[in-house]
Amino acid sequence: MIRVAPSVLACDFSRLGEEVEKVEKAGADLLHLDVMDGMFVPNISFGPDVISSIRKKSGLVFDVHLMIEDPGRYIARFAACGADIITIHYESCDNQRQVLEAIKSAGKIPSVSIKPATPAFVLEPLLPYVKMVLVMTVEPGFGGQKFIPDTMESVRTLRSMITAGGYDIDIEVDGGIGKETASTAAEAGANVLVAGSSIFGAPDAERAICEIRESAKKSYTA
Ligand code: DX5
Ligand code: ZN
Repeated sequence: MIRVAPSVLACDFSRLGEEVEKVEKAGADLLHLDVMDGMFVPNISFGPDVISSIRKKSGLVFDVHLMIEDPGRYIARFAACGADIITIHYESCDNQRQVLEAIKSAGKIPSVSIKPATPAFVLEPLLPYVKMVLVMTVEPGFGGQKFIPDTMESVRTLRSMITAGGYDIDIEVDGGIGKETASTAAEAGANVLVAGSSIFGAPDAERAICEIRESAKKSYTA
């Protein structure tokens, strides 16, 4: 199933609650929350306390993308603040399997991400432990960057590995997604589309979400 996940990184943080409500009413399927520690990526965003506050205002599925070093240290905190899906970066630790198992034990949905230059095959041994994989389609750290087409190779490789292994795993793409690139990514096999600037920067969020979903639907065959 195709799902659209607005990323709050592109919203007006002075009105965070209203912005979340806006995309919820506009038909968002998930809410994408980018956590950055200034170490794994050269930017700092927000942490569990902010997520906890918006949890009280929203019924959306919270898709928490951890761009932090050694994420195992914080799984209990993010599970407690109301995350539903927790994504860790393959490159951020050496104990990925253990951290993914900790996410599952906390009752949350485990997911793992790769940066654009990381080859997709590294994720093969982790597929039994995840429900989603996230292929970064820009370098993580900042919103508003340009989609990197070469990352579609990873999406295609992962879709083949998932099909061959008989797994039920979503493929999420994140960075530079709008209606055109949503179609490119869905054609390669992605079914969860994160979009920050193309939704929060649009005059009509509902229309932006619909356009991303519809163009992905047309191209998705996996
Ligand atoms: C980047 C973040 C993205 C970002 C996407 O590190 O992971 O979720 O918010 O923003 P856009 O859609 O503007 O590229
Ligand atoms: Zn993200």
